[in-house]
Amino acid sequence: TYVVTEACIRCKYMDCVEVCPVDCFYEGENMLVINPSECIDCGVCEPECPAEAILPDTEPGLEKMLEVNTKYSAEWPNVTTNAGQTPDDADEHKGEEGKFEKYFS
Ligand code: SF4
Ligand code: F3S
Repeated sequence: TYVVTEACIRCKYMDCVEVCPVDCFYEGENMLVINPSECIDCGVCEPECPAEAILPDTEPGLEKMLEVNTKYSAEWPNVTTNAGQTPDDADEHKGEEGKFEKYFS
């Protein structure tokens, strides 16, 4: 599966949802997650994200975020288009360190 990492938090550019062939993104207030049991590992979303927030779970160190994606994709609503949910200050949070600790609740 692919995983949305903390780089998405408060950026939420939503380019990913436009390209996913199986519509497996789920939307929280500050970020999106992927449902690992629905993701078909096509890799199409990875280069689309301006924040480089999407990685394959074969990358090291993604255990925590894989858990976050698994847990919250079961709770948050499915999202398939960017209907204007990208925050106005998204660019200010692009590349910021420690976003999970600062903003994820
Ligand atoms: Fe969707 Fe493919 Fe990205 Fe998985 S890897 S979330 S199936 S676009
Ligand atoms: Fe987040 Fe990147 Fe999608 S910032 S909403 S994973 S395009």
